[in-house]
Amino acid sequence: MKNIKTTKRLITSALPYVNNIPHLGNLIQMLSADVFARFCRSRGYETMYVCGTDEYGTATETKALQDKKTPRELCDYYYEIHKDIYNWFNIAFDKFGRTSNEECTEITQSIFNDLDKNGFIKEHTSQQLFCPKCNMFLADRYVDGTCPKCGADDARGDQCDTCGTLLDPTQLIAPRCHTCGSTPEVRETKHLYIDLPSIAPKLEEWMKETSEKGKWAANAIQMTKAWIRDGLNERAITRDLKWGIPVPKAGYENKVFYVWFNAPIGYMSITKQLEDELKSSGKKSFDWKKWWLPSEAEEKFSEKDANIELFQFIGKDNIPFHTVVFPCSEIGTGKDYTKLYHMSSTEFLNYESGKFSKSKGTGVFGSDAKESGIPSDGWRFYIYYNRPENQDYQFTWKDFQEKYNKELIGNLGNLVNRTLLFINKNYGGKIPEGKKDEALWAQIEEKEKKATELLEWAEIKDALHTIMEISDIANKAFQAAEPWKTIKTDKAVSDNILYNLAYVIKDLMILLEPYLPTYTQIVAGYLGKKIYSSTFAEPGDETALKWEDLGKLEGLDSISETSVYFTPLDNKSVDAFRAKFAGKQDEKPAAKKENKKKAKKEEPKPALSAEEQIEFFNKNIELRVAKIIDVKPNPEGEKLYIETLDDGSGTPRTIQSGLRMYLKESDLLGKNVVIAANLAPRKMRGVESYGMLLAGDYKDKDGKDCVEVLDVSWAEPGTKVVLEGADENAAKKAEITGDEFFSVAINAVNGSVEIAGKKLLALGKEIKTVNAVNSEIG
Ligand code: MF3
Ligand code: ZN
Repeated sequence: MKNIKTTKRLITSALPYVNNIPHLGNLIQMLSADVFARFCRSRGYETMYVCGTDEYGTATETKALQDKKTPRELCDYYYEIHKDIYNWFNIAFDKFGRTSNEECTEITQSIFNDLDKNGFIKEHTSQQLFCPKCNMFLADRYVDGTCPKCGADDARGDQCDTCGTLLDPTQLIAPRCHTCGSTPEVRETKHLYIDLPSIAPKLEEWMKETSEKGKWAANAIQMTKAWIRDGLNERAITRDLKWGIPVPKAGYENKVFYVWFNAPIGYMSITKQLEDELKSSGKKSFDWKKWWLPSEAEEKFSEKDANIELFQFIGKDNIPFHTVVFPCSEIGTGKDYTKLYHMSSTEFLNYESGKFSKSKGTGVFGSDAKESGIPSDGWRFYIYYNRPENQDYQFTWKDFQEKYNKELIGNLGNLVNRTLLFINKNYGGKIPEGKKDEALWAQIEEKEKKATELLEWAEIKDALHTIMEISDIANKAFQAAEPWKTIKTDKAVSDNILYNLAYVIKDLMILLEPYLPTYTQIVAGYLGKKIYSSTFAEPGDETALKWEDLGKLEGLDSISETSVYFTPLDNKSVDAFRAKFAGKQDEKPAAKKENKKKAKKEEPKPALSAEEQIEFFNKNIELRVAKIIDVKPNPEGEKLYIETLDDGSGTPRTIQSGLRMYLKESDLLGKNVVIAANLAPRKMRGVESYGMLLAGDYKDKDGKDCVEVLDVSWAEPGTKVVLEGADENAAKKAEITGDEFFSVAINAVNGSVEIAGKKLLALGKEIKTVNAVNSEIG
C-alpha cells in the first residue's frame, strides 16, 4: 500500500463541453472521479479534484451565432446549468471552473512560449479561404458551398453531409462565407504546429515508465503505443477563430489556440482559479504550482511534492489526448509539470435501444434526473454499479428498476432498516452489549481490504460490488441468527448479532460515503455519527469517521428514530419514466417523411423464433460481398474508419465501422468482406454510413479483444450472400432499420457462420471464421 503521508493525489475528470446539457453518460467521468476523490480524502491523502467546462472553439462560436448571443454569454448561461446539475449529484469538486478565464490564457501562453523557445513549435504556410468582407480567414465550418463529388449545394468546408465526403474548404465549388455569404478568396496563411515527432523519444521514455508504475489499462497502452508507432505528426495548434486564447506571436493576431491545445491545460488553470478566488476573498489559499509544477512553487519543495499522483478520468475517445498530446505539451516545455499517473477510462453508456439525443429528447439528462423524484444517490448507485468499464453499457429502465429494487434496496436498504428498526423496537434504541463475532468479521475484513485495494487503483465498480457483498454477508448473518426468535429464547445470540451488525453498518457507511454521500450521512446520523467529507474550501470535521475507523468496534451507543430513504420503483412509475424519456421524433422536415414510413414499426417486437429468423432474413436482409478499396480514419471519431467499397454496383459505397482500435488500415484494404447492404444510412460522427461490415470478436492468447472481419476472397464484389437452401435471386426489402437487422442473430459456431443453424454461403461456399470461431457476428 501507498504511504499516505508522502503521497498527494491530484484528480481530474474530462472537462465537459460547455454547450451540451450533460446526460447520464456524460456524468460518468465526473461521478467516477468524485468517488475516487472522496475515497482519497477519507483515506487521508492530501487531495485536489478539479474539473470545469471546456468552453472555447468552433462549436461554441457557431452555437452562439445561432442563439444570437456572444460566446461569452452562451458560456455563462451553460456554465450555470452544468454547475447546477453536478451540484445536485453531489460531486465534491475542489473546484469546478472554466477554461475561458484569464488563468487559462496565462498558463497556455506560458506553456506555448516554453515550447517555442525549445524549438518544438513549427510554422507552416497553407492555402486557406479568406473572406474579404469579414476580414478573416475562415475555419472549415465557416464555409459553405457546392460539393465537388455529388453536387449538393449545402456542403460545409469540412465535409458534405449529403454524400459524406470529407472535404478541404478549398475544394468547394462556389464557396460562400458562412457568416456573410460573400465569396471568399484563396490566400496564403500560416499556422503553428507542435512538433510531436521531435518530442516523441522523451514521450516514449516517460510512457514506458509511467504505464507500468501507474498500471495503465492494457487497451490504453496499446492505443498509445499504436499512436507512437504509426508515427506522430505535427499537429496544428492554431485556428482562425475569435473565441479562443490569443496566440502570443507576431503575425498571429487574428488567430487563437486550437481548443484541444488549451483544454487539458485547463486542469492546471482551474487549480489556479481556485487559488486566486480564495486569495481574493481573503480565505486560506495555496499555490497551484504545489500541485502542477512543484519545482517552481514559492513554498519549499516537500517530500509529497515529489509524489504527486495524477489520476485522470476520461472517456475512451479522449485517451490519445491524455496519453500523447497533453504529455507532449508538458514535456516539451522542459519543465517538470505533473504528468498523468493513472488513467481511468470508460466506454459509452447508451440509452435503451440507442443513444442519448438531446435534439430528439431521448434519454435521461442531468436536468431530468433532478426532476425525477429519485434521489441523486439512487442514480449514483446505478451508474457506479454498472460503470461501463470494458464495454459499452445500455441504460434501460427495466435494468434500473431491477438494480434499484433488488440491490440498493433489497440488499443494503434492507440490512440497514431491519437492523436499526430491530434495535429501536426491541432494545429501546440502545445498542446491546456483545462481543466481536470473529468469524463474521474475518469475512468482512477481507472484503474491506479488497475494496480498499481496488479503490486505491480507482477500480470503482469492482470495489462497489465488493462492498455490497459485505452487506449481503451481514444480511445472511442476521437471517441465520434469527433475532426475532432468539430475543425470546436465547437473548445473548440476539444481543450479539445486533451489536455486531450495528458496527458493520457503521463500516458500510464509511465504505459507501464516496458512492452515496447523502444516504450514508443520514444513516450515520442515526448512529449518532458523521462520515468524514471535505473539499479544500470546506475542510471536513476531523472527529468524523474516516477510512481508518473501519473494523473498529467502538464508539456506538444508541440509535435515533429512523425512516426509510429509498422506496422501491414500481412498474407503473417505471413505465411512465420510459414513456417520458423515449423522445419525440426529429422534427426536421427532411426526416419527417422517413419517420412516417417507419412509424408503423415502432412497437417493440418479441424475439423471433429460429424459423421466423430464417424467414425474416430471407425476405428482408440483404448481405453482399464488397471489396474494400479505401480506408481512412474518421477524424471526428477515434474508433471509426471510413471505408470505400466496391459493392459491384459500379458506384463506390461509403460505410463506417468502429474497427480502428482492433485493425490496421492495411488489415482491411483490398479484402473482400460481407456487408449488410440494405441498412438505412446512418450518420456517425458527421459522416453518413451506407451499410455495415460483418465481423466477429474474440480474445487472443493474451486476453486482448480482437476483431475478425468475414473474408470471402473467392467471391466477386456484388455476390449475394445467402442462407443454404434459399433463393439467391429473391427480392429483398429496399431498406431495413438497425433493429430489424439485429432481430436476426448471426453467429459463428465452430467456425461456420450461420443463422439459426443454417449456414451462410457465397457462391455456394460456406463462410468461415478463423479466430472468432464461436462469436456473435454483427
Ligand atoms: N471537452 C472534451 C470532450 O468532452 C474533453 C476535454 S478533456 C480535456 O470530449 F483534456 F481537454 F480537458
Ligand atoms: Zn464573410
